[in-house]
Amino acid sequence: MATQTQWIGPHVFREVAPTAALVETEAPPRDLLTGAEWNPASLRELYHLAADVKAHPELYRAALAGRSVAMIFEKPSLRTRVTFEVGVRNLGGSPVFLDHSQSRLGVREEIQDVAKSLQRWVHGIVARTFDQSILEKLAEHADIPVINALTDAFHPCQAMADFFTLEERFGNLRGLEMAYVGDGNNMCHSLMLAAARLGVHLRVATPTRYRPDPAILADARRTAKQTGGRTHLFTDPAAAIAGAQAVYTDVWVSMGQERESAERLQAFAGYQVTEALMELAAPGAVFMHCLPAHRGSEVAAGVIDSAQSVVYEQAENRLHVQNAIMLTLLD
Ligand code: CP
Ligand code: NVA
Repeated sequence: MATQTQWIGPHVFREVAPTAALVETEAPPRDLLTGAEWNPASLRELYHLAADVKAHPELYRAALAGRSVAMIFEKPSLRTRVTFEVGVRNLGGSPVFLDHSQSRLGVREEIQDVAKSLQRWVHGIVARTFDQSILEKLAEHADIPVINALTDAFHPCQAMADFFTLEERFGNLRGLEMAYVGDGNNMCHSLMLAAARLGVHLRVATPTRYRPDPAILADARRTAKQTGGRTHLFTDPAAAIAGAQAVYTDVWVSMGQERESAERLQAFAGYQVTEALMELAAPGAVFMHCLPAHRGSEVAAGVIDSAQSVVYEQAENRLHVQNAIMLTLLD
């Protein structure tokens, strides 16, 4: 039996024997913590469901009737908060927002007490935390599904929605040529994990110092061998973008990195996705960004505001794909 990788802490994956749940392709994963728990078959099923939820929302109006979902946010959010709140309501359930912007989780009381109390009242937890380990601890102690709404290390809901957006646009993801330019951050990590599972050819261009985590790269490359995917690293944005059907970028200073702003802005100068760089992409290429965006930093206004940009399609699909994630996990 092939081994699986499991996230065991910041920037550390370990090889583990696959559990029954991971081997059974029909068995959905229990949580969404990194995105690596979702194998190619689970992702395909998810997209099938997301397409149906998007096309026939009326069929799912009572799908989560009588269920509540706790939303714990240590960082600011527009898209993630609104799409989960509206999504839970659209499915007939009740969201409960817990604002942790002033006090990190685990400070007022231990994570295990938060997890074990919440599971007596609600049916799922959506959490945006700084440390990935906090999210993992919640999942370890809660008997209800835990969904990663962004951590310092991953943003799986966004990446899953983004490939759904690309599938809608291009029809088929296998062999799709995608470039990611900028910081090898949480967004980059989640795109790498999802791309590998979907057979996408991903070219990542970052300054050497801001490369993605080597352990995540190794996981992506291992998985890509089974799906026909590829992950290549570059330092030259033009080399990554040449011939790409989708060009993706994210902020240079992520939430929590504000003190590094000056050095980051300097390091990423030259990595702005400009009109000139987009001309190197394939005909019909799309521009993608998870948002929030900074026009004039990581992307030129003439790119993000052009007809090539699908950033609001990405934002809309957060709703449909997350609804499908909740239907899969909370069912
Ligand atoms: N893309 C995204 O997650 O946006 P928010 O930070 O506004 O939720
Ligand atoms: N990398 C960004 C993504 C925001 C959705 C951040 O973590 O701030």
